[in-house]
Amino acid sequence: MIPRHVGIIMDGNGRWAQKRGLPRTEGYKAGLAAMERVLKALSLAGVEAVTVYAFSTENAARPAEEISAIADVVVGWNNSYGGNMRVRYSGDIDSLGKRLSDSVCRVAERTARNNGMQLNILLNYGGRADILKAASVCAECGKISEEVFCGALASAGMPPLDLIVRSGGEKRLSGFMLYEAAYAELYFSEKLWPDFDADDVKDFLDDFSRRIRKFGA
Ligand code: IPE
Ligand code: IPE
Ligand code: MG
Repeated sequence: MIPRHVGIIMDGNGRWAQKRGLPRTEGYKAGLAAMERVLKALSLAGVEAVTVYAFSTENAARPAEEISAIADVVVGWNNSYGGNMRVRYSGDIDSLGKRLSDSVCRVAERTARNNGMQLNILLNYGGRADILKAASVCAECGKISEEVFCGALASAGMPPLDLIVRSGGEKRLSGFMLYEAAYAELYFSEKLWPDFDADDVKDFLDDFSRRIRKFGA
């Protein structure tokens, strides 16, 4: 069995750079290259949708230099992406400034009619805030239903989240898709994100294919 929707917590970029005596900001450039390798392998494997965690609301507490390096990587990728994925962003994008939000809108528009894998990038995202937002959408329309609630989450319109992969050795979700994670399989790797490649994708897809999912039944 291949997971339909894979979530990835791309952690360990800063440590990867520090280990090499490089500034942490270099880790984000290397992290982008890893993301491209991994997405290509997932697409070739037939995965329908991927959500990557690029920046959490809590990451806003990082030094300004680090935040602007991440923004540069994101804008650069948005403006140059020419592949066949359908790209969208979720999170509080508007508060990140016009340069970033314009590039987000443009890549989403440019790729909307593509027919490749769906890519959802979580940027300035928090899982608790996402749940609160969905609750307030329910309150506003006066209807509490799974349909309205799930339609307001960052995963709206995507297949169920089957697998969450976290690189970098930590065994926690750090706010990643807290509602959607309910029955996702979890895979933790000690490898730092910039070291991830197609072999790691094979490893976690093979591991997933051996899991016995019971959904409580
Ligand atoms: C995760 O990498 C990506 C972002 C938070 C943007 P880190 O920057 O957290 O890397 P480590 O965990 O410090 O190595
Ligand atoms: C989670 O990594 C967020 C992203 C990968 C974007 P963090 O490095 O922010 O998580 P903690 O602080 O180790 O929990
Ligand atoms: Mg980290």
